[in-house]
Amino acid sequence: MTSPRRTFAIISHPDAGKTTLTEKLLVAGGAIHLAGEVKARGQNRRARSDWMKIEQQRGISVTSSVMTFERDGITFNLLDTPGHEDFSEDTYRTLTAVDSAVMVIDAAKGIEPQTRKLFEVCRLRSVPIITFVNKVDREGRPVFELLDEIADMLALDVCPMSWPIGMGGEFEGVMELATGKVSRPEGDSRTFQGKIDTGVTLSDKITEEIELAGIGYPTFDAEAYRNGDLTPVYFGSALKDFGVTDLIDALADYAPPPRPQPAEPAPVSPDEPDVTGFIFKVQANMDPNHRDRIAFMRLCSGTFKRGMKLTPSGSGKPIAVHSPILFFAQNREIADEAFPGDIIGIPNHGTLRVGDTLAEKPGVRFTGLPNFAPEILRRVILKDPTKTKQLRKALDDMAEEGVTQVFYPEIGSNWIIGVVGQLQLEVLLSRLDAEYKVAAGLEHAPFDTARWVSADEAADLKAFTDINRAAMAKDRDGNPVFLAKTAWEVGYVADRYPKVKFAATRER
Ligand code: G4P
Repeated sequence: MTSPRRTFAIISHPDAGKTTLTEKLLVAGGAIHLAGEVKARGQNRRARSDWMKIEQQRGISVTSSVMTFERDGITFNLLDTPGHEDFSEDTYRTLTAVDSAVMVIDAAKGIEPQTRKLFEVCRLRSVPIITFVNKVDREGRPVFELLDEIADMLALDVCPMSWPIGMGGEFEGVMELATGKVSRPEGDSRTFQGKIDTGVTLSDKITEEIELAGIGYPTFDAEAYRNGDLTPVYFGSALKDFGVTDLIDALADYAPPPRPQPAEPAPVSPDEPDVTGFIFKVQANMDPNHRDRIAFMRLCSGTFKRGMKLTPSGSGKPIAVHSPILFFAQNREIADEAFPGDIIGIPNHGTLRVGDTLAEKPGVRFTGLPNFAPEILRRVILKDPTKTKQLRKALDDMAEEGVTQVFYPEIGSNWIIGVVGQLQLEVLLSRLDAEYKVAAGLEHAPFDTARWVSADEAADLKAFTDINRAAMAKDRDGNPVFLAKTAWEVGYVADRYPKVKFAATRER
């Protein structure tokens, strides 16, 4: 019997405390022993890679990773997502590989823009959410105001599971509402330990708050939570290590185990014996000494064993997976076996692509991994014209990783790249230079947005592309893309060609 799995991600706005919480979760799970280690190791690793200097300079985390820890017989797979809004596409894809999410909110700030965007992606896929209101050791907003904001802005039922007894200087602990047990801070000012204390006398104000909360909010309904209609809300402080184990217990008790995954011809249940999975992320050059790339696969069914042959839907040629990697607290370890819900890193030289299905028996295809229309388009200017081949390889590689998208116009030789955020442009140039020795610049493209075009009848598509040839390009996979000057133009053109479909996302 294998231990149950909980595969989840943390979503938050930058600075809400995701890194700190991750660290504390790993410590609680025994994966690391020193607080601060996640950051320290991260920085060590970063220092080795040139292009990641951007991360250091900006103090943001661009690379995602997978961390596994165990507690009370349950294996938790935590998929880290880059917090910076520029890397939303990467984050979105990671959310396709989880069964649930923890939403971290700063008690002083409430729902912030990035929290909201990420929440919408979770909603799209009915990913259930546990809310952690962080930083109660500091002055925060009134609890009712925070709860109502979550309910109103996210159109979600909220159910407080605990209640902070004061915040900031008046913080006295957190009460578990179901039992009335109070965890009181104990320890030095750096870290509190929750000490269960049933003999607390609460102030009238707090007693009244808790009474009102009991009347004003729905009781916890596990089914509604799992459907993504209700979020249980916990209060705590990641920094002071307060409420973190309650959060793990909540994940253990309520978060769903691996769920059936949408696929063609039929959804795949985790109980099916044949091994299947999909690639949600590809990362190149994690170790600059080996020009490897790692494809991250979410295992959806079957028991994976090292050396197993799997067929990727992209190439159709079976590959033997001899050195799969399980990510255990950021140490790469060779895995012998993995189970549904686990993430496996598969080293490869470019055969595996984001969106690929891998299966023991071909014929299955997972669906719903979106490719987003880029919001920024730029023309790539090569400084040394003899490097065309290297540039093409670099752009293809990065498109494959999902860092940038590349479009090859039908007319002219100026390749166009698309990104969802400004910072990716800097990453692109820096990597071109450091990894591919290609000096390049970027200039404004005469286009502002891209749409994948298709039509039921090939003739309708051809009629459209023939007339609009100057605005047509192909993506890396050869799919036709219409490059428009403005979003308005997309609407205008779409009206004139009702038989052509214009898509802002392309499913892989
Ligand atoms: P992020 O990954 O979501 O961006 O947030 P991160 O954990 O890096 O936390 C952002 C800041 O908030 C950090 O302070 C961190 O120490 C602080 N923080 C996190 N959790 C809590 C909490 O529960 N209470 C309080 N009071 N602060 C918290 P910083 O000064 O920006 O960084 P650092 O120099 O302390 O690392």
